[in-house]
Amino acid sequence: MNPLNHVAIIMDGNGRWGLKHKNSRNAGHKAGLQTVEKIIKETIKNKIGYLTLYAFSTENWKRPKKEVNYLFNLLENFLINRIEELSKQNIKLKIIGVKKFSNKLNKIITHSEKKTSKNNKLQINLALNYGSKFELISAFKKLSKNNESINETNFEKYLQTKNIPDPDLIIRTGNTNRLSNFLLWQLAYSEIFFEKKLWPDFSIKDYNRIIKSFKKIKRNFGSI
Ligand code: IPE
Ligand code: IPE
Ligand code: MG
Repeated sequence: MNPLNHVAIIMDGNGRWGLKHKNSRNAGHKAGLQTVEKIIKETIKNKIGYLTLYAFSTENWKRPKKEVNYLFNLLENFLINRIEELSKQNIKLKIIGVKKFSNKLNKIITHSEKKTSKNNKLQINLALNYGSKFELISAFKKLSKNNESINETNFEKYLQTKNIPDPDLIIRTGNTNRLSNFLLWQLAYSEIFFEKKLWPDFSIKDYNRIIKSFKKIKRNFGSI
């Protein structure tokens, strides 16, 4: 049985779900938040140490302003209303991505990260304004600026995921088989599961089914 210490999820399909059920993409984002809550609980139950959630990519700014604003409002309210409870559950929150948001959201994020910084049951990495290519370029720039020798250990110090083990398992919902600029370095040896279901329909049962399959995989890491 493989140990499972880090799950990463590309939570895709909210927009399509919203259009189908409520004729509104934003309704899908709201519904998707319920799935986030369920998955966090189940991740703790499964004693997994890290959960990385792709919430907003550097490319998602291309979406209509109305949708972008709705997403950030949803996130703001989630953090304002839930951070106390998440902290009580011994959850640590970390944002990965470029932290360039409104002053209000910046403050909420700083407060949420600080409040939960000493917690150690589950670390949630929320990928927000995250893009893997930008992360990699920034890391290369820092290496070269500091004139350090180019090797994996030095390089990884400059990634947003510094000190976080690589994901063992990556799940993408929404019936699309691509990585969309997510953790391109860190996923080098992760087990990839593409799920047909849209994120709001993704259930605890689906999650546990994937975890069960993951545990049985023969992971080679290049060996035999
Ligand atoms: C949610 O799914 C992911 C985010 C960018 C917030 P989408 O909004 O991409 O949903 P689809 O793929 O359009 O259905
Ligand atoms: C990936 O989903 C980003 C998030 C889930 C936050 P997208 O819906 O943005 O991906 P593409 O554009 O279909 O590749
Ligand atoms: Mg999508």
